[in-house]
Amino acid sequence: MRRLEGQAVFVAGGAGRLGTAACRRLASEGARVFVTDIDEAAASAVAKGIVEAGGEAHAMYLDLADHDSIDAAFTEAEKRLGPILRMHGNGAALKLMYERDLGALDIDIEAWELTLRTNLTGHLACVKRALPAMIEAGDGAIVLTSSGAAHAAEPIRVAYAVSKAGINQLVRHLAATWGKAGIRCNAVAPGAILPEDFPQMDLYKMAMKSPRVGTGDDIAAMVAMLMSSDGEWINGQIISVDAGMSMRS
Ligand SMILES: NC(=O)c1ccc[n+]([C@@H]2O[C@H](COP(=O)([O-])OP(=O)(O)OC[C@H]3O[C@@H](n4cnc5c(N)ncnc54)[C@H](O)[C@@H]3O)[C@@H](O)[C@H]2O)c1
Repeated sequence: MRRLEGQAVFVAGGAGRLGTAACRRLASEGARVFVTDIDEAAASAVAKGIVEAGGEAHAMYLDLADHDSIDAAFTEAEKRLGPILRMHGNGAALKLMYERDLGALDIDIEAWELTLRTNLTGHLACVKRALPAMIEAGDGAIVLTSSGAAHAAEPIRVAYAVSKAGINQLVRHLAATWGKAGIRCNAVAPGAILPEDFPQMDLYKMAMKSPRVGTGDDIAAMVAMLMSSDGEWINGQIISVDAGMSMRS
């Protein structure tokens, strides 16, 4: 399927597990992908792999917590690819989540603020930079990345959960405000796409209503669909791709 032929797509945080799979899938559907990440070397490796496979991709450093770097990356992307009408916001400070994101009593305020600045404000900054071109074109598709944590009740990772709940509301705000102008915004909420040796993997596996574990490609397929014309009538949705893990039983 080549549903994104020639489309310029900006990916914020495209070098990790899910970001890499999304960039590859978007490129395989014909998109010209601008891969950004705080891990510049990893972003370059993703772009290189796409180019070697016959696609078009570019890479650049971007720190979601640094708005100047977001502006610089968009400026470069527009220079290379022209107007950016498709954007995928995926990056998140997960190391911070594992190491310092505790309950409300124990989390240090600096960790809370950096989590929100990276996972939520950073994506707002990308959206603010992307919207004018979309409005001018009367065409835009934004796919952000949420998590089941946004609506779960958990005793840990409070900042992460709040950041993802914020993403959900940002999605609805953008869809409600710009839908009539031809701009769609949705989020994908991935299930546990984690290494086999991840500490809670056995528990997660029990919650999956599927005979297999998920992969980055499962999430990437939804990202590509939401960006394509197949997703043209989907707006303001948070779509769980999690083998029913978040389903109430
Ligand atoms: N894998 C899962 O089970 C799962 C489940 C639910 C939600 N998610 C969400 O999916 C997205 C991708 O997660 P993943 O599992 O691929 O994790 P990952 O750690 O492999 O990827 C995260 C990416 O974000 C980048 N990043 C971190 N801080 C950044 C910053 N300040 N600026 C720019 N980039 C930055 C990292 O370098 C990395 O490439 C995240 O938004 C995460 O919250 C993942």
